Amino acid sequence: MATLVTDKPQWTTAPSAYKALKEHFAQHPEELPAFTNPYDVSRSDIYVEDRWQPIFAKMRAEGPLHYIAESPFGPHWNVVGHKAIQHIESLPELFSSSWEYGGITILNRLDDEEVIARGGERFELPMFIAMDRPKHTGQRRTVAPKFTPGEITKMEGEVRQRTGELLDTLPYGEVFDWVDKVSIELTTGMLAILFDFPWEDRRLLTFWSDWAGDTELALVRDLDEQRQGILREMAGYFQMLWADRAQKEGGNDLISMMVHSPAMNQMDPQEFMGNLVLLIVGGNDTTRNTMSGIIHAFDKFPDQRKLFEENPDLIPNAVQECIRYQTPLAHMRRTATEDTEVFGNKIAKGDKLVLWYLSANRDEEVFENPDKLDITRENARRHISFGYGIHRCVGARLAELQLRILLEEMHKRRMRVHVAGDVERVRANFVHGFRKMEVELTKF
Ligand code: HEM
Repeated sequence: MATLVTDKPQWTTAPSAYKALKEHFAQHPEELPAFTNPYDVSRSDIYVEDRWQPIFAKMRAEGPLHYIAESPFGPHWNVVGHKAIQHIESLPELFSSSWEYGGITILNRLDDEEVIARGGERFELPMFIAMDRPKHTGQRRTVAPKFTPGEITKMEGEVRQRTGELLDTLPYGEVFDWVDKVSIELTTGMLAILFDFPWEDRRLLTFWSDWAGDTELALVRDLDEQRQGILREMAGYFQMLWADRAQKEGGNDLISMMVHSPAMNQMDPQEFMGNLVLLIVGGNDTTRNTMSGIIHAFDKFPDQRKLFEENPDLIPNAVQECIRYQTPLAHMRRTATEDTEVFGNKIAKGDKLVLWYLSANRDEEVFENPDKLDITRENARRHISFGYGIHRCVGARLAELQLRILLEEMHKRRMRVHVAGDVERVRANFVHGFRKMEVELTKF
């Protein structure tokens, strides 16, 4: 495992993104965004309080697209139907992912412009998730070889060993936080291995990922300086790792692979950095929140937990169903490059379309009884949690592997996890998951 290549960065002593945001709004309640439209699902309270389901269901019943003229994130379309999202994602020229139009989250590019107007600097890390063809194709191709079925199979032994070892350290008869002890530990550990990232610093990955992926935090101007400082430091840290790997031949971690691949050598350093950050952020909150989501869903549907305990053959399908049910990223965003029409709705060039995966995965037209967890569901695989089309998640197989092994190793140990205390959800409209979940273990 690699060792530390830099001094401890100054910003790592900063509070977590969550804490910073909470403290900010406690001091400035007048800045809490105001929401007037009941269909404005950009409001994060409905996610933290887990009451988004009926709002989306009502919207779906009325149609797949809804225009929100005013919101703290600016005007946008809510796309809530499974079919409509697939339709939009299958036309990447017409519906762009490019950062030049605003990228892939509900945030505005305007928010950046405001930072500059206030004398700040734009912080841009180009990443291929926020690029269109042909650039996207070339850059995706350079990292995709690390995620082929063959490569994933090679990782299985190590993932299984680490997962088993961690499960063996968990206490019985004692309440503990599953998010911290299991979900965060397993996902940051996986990424640290993938990148040969300094092991003792692996929690920095969680810290950075939280600061980078929080859409609400990006609206708070008073936190700009802190946020940008943290992101710059993250970039600096990766730059040092990159320089370190560039000097060594033959490493088979993802950074060495990228540094020594002819295609990547031609990439400018900012883009290289951006893509590293994409892999870290992409693989972090998402898998982490599914690991917590599985436990929460099994506790809510004990009949399904029993089915899993009695039928380990159902594990691969249970993984798909849990990813559907949890939907770790609530949305992705596209921007129209031309005037067009989608299912009878007139879309103007420049319009922002927010694709609510959270809603598509509960679409009654595709999933029967969608609000129920059903690990025998025949079409669970039709979930859209990994997106669709040319940007479909490159790490999907790795995430599926980690989740399958977690369930298999829990089953091997006859481990049953009960929710036994506080459950705190993420207050955000992008990352959908759990900040804390107190649990207790028994055996089945
Ligand atoms: C349950 C876990 C995960 C979920 C739900 C998830 C979800 C997503 C989604 C929704 C997208 C965008 C798809 C689109 O725009 O159509 C995406 C893209 C991406 N994800 Fe994941 N992801 C997960 C795990 C991972 C992991 C483990 C990695 C890598 C270590 C990863 C790396 C990426 C990358 C690099 C992209 C960009 C792909 C592109 O633009 O071509 N993800 N992911």
